Amino acid sequence: MRTASLLLLASLAVAAPAAKWEFVEVGSSGVIGLESIVVSPTLVIFFDRATNDPLRTPNGKVAWGSLFDLETNTATALELITDSFCASGAMLSNGTMVSVGGNTPAAADLNQTGAYDGRMGIRLFEPCASPSGAGCTIFEDPQTLHLATTRWYTSTVRLFDGSLMIIGGVHEDIPFYNTDPVNSFEFFPPKDNGVPRDSPFLNRTVPVNLFPRGFALPDGTVFILANNQTIIYDVESNTETPLLDLPNGQRVSNPFDGTATMLPLSPPDYIPEILACGGSMKSDTTPVEDLSSQDPATSQCARLTLSPAGLAQGWQVEHMPQGRMMPEMVLLPNGQVLITNGAGTGYAAVQSIGVTTGQSNADHPVFTPVLYDPSAPLGQRMTQEGLPTTNIPRMYHSSVTLTPKGNILIAGNNPNANFTIVPPGEPGFSSELRVETLNPPFISMPRPVLSNVPSKIAFNQHFTMDIDIPAGVSATASNVKVALMDLGFSTHAFHSTERLVFMDFTLASNKRSLTVLSPPNNRVYPPGPAFIFVTVGDTTSEGAHVMVGSGASPPVPDQGVPL
Ligand SMILES: *[C@@H]1O[C@H](CO)[C@@H](O)[C@H](O)[C@H]1NC(C)=O
Ligand SMILES: *[C@@H]1O[C@H](CO)[C@@H](O)[C@H](O)[C@H]1NC(C)=O
Ligand SMILES: *[C@@H]1O[C@H](CO)[C@@H](O)[C@H](O)[C@H]1NC(C)=O
Ligand SMILES: *[C@@H]1O[C@H](CO)[C@@H](O)[C@H](O)[C@H]1NC(C)=O
Ligand SMILES: *[C@@H]1O[C@H](CO)[C@@H](O)[C@H](O)[C@H]1NC(C)=O
Repeated sequence: MRTASLLLLASLAVAAPAAKWEFVEVGSSGVIGLESIVVSPTLVIFFDRATNDPLRTPNGKVAWGSLFDLETNTATALELITDSFCASGAMLSNGTMVSVGGNTPAAADLNQTGAYDGRMGIRLFEPCASPSGAGCTIFEDPQTLHLATTRWYTSTVRLFDGSLMIIGGVHEDIPFYNTDPVNSFEFFPPKDNGVPRDSPFLNRTVPVNLFPRGFALPDGTVFILANNQTIIYDVESNTETPLLDLPNGQRVSNPFDGTATMLPLSPPDYIPEILACGGSMKSDTTPVEDLSSQDPATSQCARLTLSPAGLAQGWQVEHMPQGRMMPEMVLLPNGQVLITNGAGTGYAAVQSIGVTTGQSNADHPVFTPVLYDPSAPLGQRMTQEGLPTTNIPRMYHSSVTLTPKGNILIAGNNPNANFTIVPPGEPGFSSELRVETLNPPFISMPRPVLSNVPSKIAFNQHFTMDIDIPAGVSATASNVKVALMDLGFSTHAFHSTERLVFMDFTLASNKRSLTVLSPPNNRVYPPGPAFIFVTVGDTTSEGAHVMVGSGASPPVPDQGVPL
């Protein structure tokens, strides 16, 4: 009897733990990871404010950017010239990362960092072949390479010609609402001889229109959501077409940061759908002194299908399990959406409303993510079952990105004016350097492995890649998905250029290779770098890094076949 129970205990002890979602702490971002972007299969760039971060450059200066190596989980300083605080960014059609806009450093910060005014900043990180990033640096030349106007809190969209559209922002340091708006669009590389285009939409969405949520639609137009209003912007004719307001007074751009994403696009029609979640139901004319870090955030999500039938139906309303200010939505390769981070109450920004918690405008960090299944029936799309709980607040100045490994990298949190450790017992939230991954269950399971993936794929073209599906995982005609993804640039509860396009494929009868059809044209997937992930049942491969299109510098001509 005794022997039997010991044996039972022993067998329990060696049994493999059931694969589950988990948060894992994986090192330090060196600088507060308030912006993040994956720039190669192994490297992520974090940007912060030029202030008093602990990381130092090789010549001993305070750093405000870092290159994080996903293989070693270590951060090394990036040497920047201008202040990248609350900038935006994206990849171009030639694989170069561009960071745009930023802030004017405060006198004390300037002293510590030597940073120049970054409001017209353009920072280039050219494609980096070294897995560790050795020899790869940021290029800046503020004298000759800069935006047409000053922009802080701007956002970006990569267009069908592979260039960036740069949307809105604020000129100067403002405390909370956008009272000094940049009501225009501009482009990089420039169009119209560098003259910005006025936007009536941005004009009428002040003062809650910072970090506008913009999406390149599969017909080449751009959907923009700011405050509670929406438009479709036609870049080619420079016309704005107003669409439906968000329902029930929901507002989702900064400083009432909800978030929004374009749901995965699928062949043959690639009909776009927009999902907007969280933020606030407060009026945008509420005086700042009447706002409190204890005001509840909204749990509302609104979903709109951008087709004639969808527009006639209007926004569909559903609710997250809890309200969230500053939630983040991450597209997953299986087509689900992960909702994470944020605060149950309050607003974005720092020490700028009537009642704060320490310096934070928000309180009650939300510690448990939500999974959203776009294909489930209304009312049954969200679950927190099986999702883990962290104890690290991720509110203002946090970032989240899917990695090429297929897990989710989370950094930042700094609702303070600079790098600040809040003593125990005092109100507020410390500046956060701890990086976490949120690992889906498949990270600890045998996974499909891709090989012989072409490094460059043209539009509307069949290509073949090999796949090694682990024993015990059965691939059927209906449980395999091939996703082409832009992982986006994460900051302020928005992921500029994040995109998932599913691709049609056939699986060879021996199940060892896939023949895939690339997106029909450069409007369905704006040309540029991507990762291909293959999901088989409950497991997903790592992402294979590819260049979609020719890899030429923008602007590139239309390619492929019309939809
Ligand atoms: C700049 O730094 C020097 C020494 O590092 C210090 O003496 C001075 O007070 C600083 N000035 C400001 C404006 O912080
Ligand atoms: C919007 O445009 C009008 C007309 O040009 C201008 O008077 C007004 O100041 C603008 N409003 C904002 C908030 O920029
Ligand atoms: C959107 O906000 C504006 C300005 O606050 C307001 O006038 C309008 O009624 C709102 N729309 C909806 C549908 O609530
Ligand atoms: C950080 O900000 C506080 C004000 O919030 C200021 O008193 C302090 O001097 C700053 N510290 C540094 C190192 O810049
Ligand atoms: C990509 O294009 C941009 C804009 O023209 C240019 O600055 C950059 O150097 C190019 N990168 C490569 C790798 O060609």
